[in-house]
Amino acid sequence: MSENSNLIYVLNGPNLNLLGLREPEIYGYDTLDDIAGMLEDRARELGLEIEMRQTNHEGMLVDWLQEAQAEGAKAVLLNAAAYTHTSIALLDAIRAIKTPVVEVHLSDPSKREEFRHISYVGMAAANTVQGHGAKSYLIALEAVANETF
Ligand code: DQA
Repeated sequence: MSENSNLIYVLNGPNLNLLGLREPEIYGYDTLDDIAGMLEDRARELGLEIEMRQTNHEGMLVDWLQEAQAEGAKAVLLNAAAYTHTSIALLDAIRAIKTPVVEVHLSDPSKREEFRHISYVGMAAANTVQGHGAKSYLIALEAVANETF
């Protein structure tokens, strides 16, 4: 495993490809491309590099978490979307790697339906940033840059 201390994986789970169109009253009007652009601009200023990905498939997120470690990434920002609330495989994957994972959500799941109150990702993540819309990603990036997670 070679250390690549500038590289940040930003992994996005199911339905986040529809951001901007999908329930904008909850998730806002920014698309995932808009968020990638914001992150890349800020990352450039911070001397960091963003690897932005989205998948609708749970196992793909597991593969990418393992890849982040294999690539020696500094950290992962993970919005696992609905898998947050269901996936023991993601809990195990986060525990299985040494790369720190920051859980990210646009909304605040703890203030929504009861079934969103459990977070398997949060049980293993180094930190959680939620409820700030697209800015949640930027706040998480700052935390990683400052190593305040
Ligand atoms: C979400 C919150 C989840 O509860 C939901 O399933 C999502 C998006 C968020 O970013 O607010 O798909 O992760």
